Amino acid sequence: MEKVKIGLLGYGVVGSSVYRLLTKERVRILEGTGVDLEVTRIAEMDTTKHGADAPASLFTTDGSAVVEDPSIDVVVELFGGVDAAFELISCALRNGKNVVTANKQLLANRGAALFELAREKGRQIRFEASVGGAIPIIKVMRESMFAAELHTVYGIVNGTTNYILTAMLRGEGDYAATLARAQELGYAEADPTADVNGADAAAKMAILASIAFHSRVTLQDVTFEGIASIQPEDIAYARDLGFVIKLVGSARLLDEQVNVRVAPTLVPAGHPLAGINGSYNAVLLVGHAIDEIMLSGPGAGGLQTSTAVISDIVSIVSTKTTGFMQNCSCYRALPLLAEEEMRSAFFIRVRVEDRPGVLAQLASIFGERDVSIESLIQKGHGDQAELVLITHPSPEKDFRAALEAIAGLSSVRSRPMTIRVLG
Ligand code: HSE
Repeated sequence: MEKVKIGLLGYGVVGSSVYRLLTKERVRILEGTGVDLEVTRIAEMDTTKHGADAPASLFTTDGSAVVEDPSIDVVVELFGGVDAAFELISCALRNGKNVVTANKQLLANRGAALFELAREKGRQIRFEASVGGAIPIIKVMRESMFAAELHTVYGIVNGTTNYILTAMLRGEGDYAATLARAQELGYAEADPTADVNGADAAAKMAILASIAFHSRVTLQDVTFEGIASIQPEDIAYARDLGFVIKLVGSARLLDEQVNVRVAPTLVPAGHPLAGINGSYNAVLLVGHAIDEIMLSGPGAGGLQTSTAVISDIVSIVSTKTTGFMQNCSCYRALPLLAEEEMRSAFFIRVRVEDRPGVLAQLASIFGERDVSIESLIQKGHGDQAELVLITHPSPEKDFRAALEAIAGLSSVRSRPMTIRVLG
C-alpha cells in the first residue's frame, strides 16, 4: 500500500471541506486506487480555525512549513490571492511536490510561469476546482476536447452572481440581502468584490480560453463587467420581453483571433442557460467536430468544490508513474480580437422626455449607424417616458457610437443602461 501525504494551504470553506471529505472517503479511495491519502499538515492564518474538525497538531500559521516539509507529496493551495500563493506553489514545485490549486486569479495572472516551472521540475499542477465548482470542465476540455476544434466556450461561471440574479428574479430579496446569503452559504470569495464585479468569472474564462484555443489568455486580456448596475426593473423588463439576465462569460476564436469577455447578458427564456439557477454553473463548448456540449452543475460551495480538489489528487496519484501529465497545453500564441470588432445585440433602458419627435430622434440615430431595432416598450412616468429597446446584432463600435450620440441628446434624461443579448 502506497501512502501519499497531503499538505493543505488554507482551511476556509473549501479547505475544511477537503479535509472532511478526504477523511470520510479515505478507505474508498484506498480501495479504488491502492493509495492511502492522508492530510498531515495544514497552514491556516486564522488560528480560531485550528483544531476545528482536524487535530490541532496538524496546524501551522506558516505556509512555508508545508511546502518545505520533505514528507509531503502533494500540496493543495486554497489560500487564494496571487503573489504569496505564487511563491508557495513555486517553492512546492522546486521541492518536488505535485500541486493542486483552486486559485483562478493566480492561474489567470501568473499561470504561464507556474506551468513552465512544473514542466521543468517534472511535476503536475492540477486546477479542476478553479472553474465551475464540482463540474469536471477542466478535465473534459483538456482531455476529451483535444480534437474537437473548439471555437466558442460560453456560459455561467460564477455561482454567487447567478445566485443573486436568480433570487432577484424570483423576488426573494434585493441585491445586498442575497449577496449576504451567498456569503453565508460559502459561495462567495472571502472578499466578494471579485464575484460581483466580474473578475472571478473573467479569470475563469481566461483559464477556459487558454485550454480551448491552446493559446495563453491572461486576466488582462479579458474585458469584464459585473452585475452591480443591474436594477430590478431591468430584470422585470427582460422577463416581459422573454429573456432572463445572466452573467455570461464567452470566449471566441474568430479568424484565428481570440476575444474573451464577461458581461451581464439577456438570455432567451428557452435557451439552456436560462434554466441554470442559484449557485449552479454551466459551460457550453462549441466546436466544428462536436457541435455543442453543455456541462452544468454546482458551481460554488465548499463540499461541491472539494470533490474537484480530491479528483485532482486522485488523478495525480494515478498518473504519476505513467508519465501522463497535464501542465500547460498552450502551444501557440494567437492575437486578441478587439471588443469593437465583435457583433452583438443590445438591450437599452433609458428615460426620455415624453414629447413628440423624441422616439424618432433615437430611431434615426440608430438608423444612421445601421443599428436596427428589434423590439420596443415605452412606459409613461409623468412628463418622462422609460424606453426599453432591443436591437438586432450590429458591430459593437456602431452601437457604441449611436449610444454616445443618444446620451448627448437634451431630451435624454438618464444615462442609458445597456445589457448585451446572447446570440
Ligand atoms: N466564488 C465563486 C463563485 C466560487 O461564486 O462562483 C469559487 O469559484
